[in-house]
Amino acid sequence: MRTRAADVGDVAQMSAFLKELTAAGKRKSPDDEGFVLAHYIDDPNKVRCTVAEEDGIVLGFQSLKRAVAGNPYGVEPGWGIIGTHIRPSAARRGVGRALFEVSCSSARTASIAKIDATIAADNPEALAYYEAMGFRTYRTPEGLICKRFDVVAQKS
Ligand SMILES: CC(C)(COP(=O)(O)OP(=O)(O)OC[C@H]1O[C@@H](n2cnc3c(N)ncnc32)[C@H](O)[C@@H]1OP(=O)(O)O)[C@@H](O)C(=O)NCCC(=O)NCCS
Repeated sequence: MRTRAADVGDVAQMSAFLKELTAAGKRKSPDDEGFVLAHYIDDPNKVRCTVAEEDGIVLGFQSLKRAVAGNPYGVEPGWGIIGTHIRPSAARRGVGRALFEVSCSSARTASIAKIDATIAADNPEALAYYEAMGFRTYRTPEGLICKRFDVVAQKS
């Protein structure tokens, strides 16, 4: 497995496994190719979108964006906003862990001090994943659990 920056050539595979996550009830946001392109590859607030790939198969991706004023998640402007999406057949193989190493280093390079992960309260896998990466709960809007990661407190 290797990690690299996501590019437009990954969009079809990213969308395909987001659709699998939607079908499994693990995703509520759009999953079409246009959404993937606009929100992960070409987003103006993107800090880094990383894919993990093996033999040409995209196993998962992680998006890190910078929160701007008025962002829909209510995240403090200047913080990072993270999202992680792993192909179901590649879950629990360390893909998410490998992606977060890259995102964390990208956050540090971009001088982002804290990262928000907003997770559905009924998504135990994602809650366990972010907790294992060092995120901790700091607010709980209805139906959601928002976890925060302190980038500057970590060793580089
Ligand atoms: C949740 C998700 C991101 C985890 O990614 P992953 O690549 O499977 O995670 P990893 O294999 O790197 O696991 C890292 C650690 O996270 C924790 N973890 C991951 N999946 C877990 C699960 N299903 N149950 C319990 N702990 C879990 C474990 O501590 C794990 O370490 P370990 O395997 O050494 O015990 C992935 O399953 C996923 O994309 N789920 C669907 C989409 C989603 O919910 N995204 C988050 C939206 S906010």
